[in-house]
Amino acid sequence: MDNTDGFVAALEEKDLEEGKMKRVSVEGTPVLFIRQKGKIFAIDNKCPHQGCGFSGGTLDGLVIVCPCHDWRFSLETGEYEVEPSMKLRIFEWKVQSGKIWVKLDEDTDDS
Ligand code: FES
Repeated sequence: MDNTDGFVAALEEKDLEEGKMKRVSVEGTPVLFIRQKGKIFAIDNKCPHQGCGFSGGTLDGLVIVCPCHDWRFSLETGEYEVEPSMKLRIFEWKVQSGKIWVKLDEDTDDS
């Protein structure tokens, strides 16, 4: 697979519908793609609290609610509403040639 500037092709852009989430394993990392209010987000599927998968959670506007303990995180900043220093991991992404590409950064902060 082509790996330009560290970006990896993850899914077809047309496969991500408005209001939906799609979990894709990108080089072994579970990435959750979300299209909400016309915007695309790519986050680590693993909740920073106790590691539950966000893909089983729900969307509330630009907030994702973890299915395990209902913690609410902003999709725009990654911040947990109650304790903003706790953040989910957000990946850079781009759309090119009809696909959504994601960049898994080097930062190996495995909390
Ligand atoms: S694991 Fe996500 S809120 Fe606890």
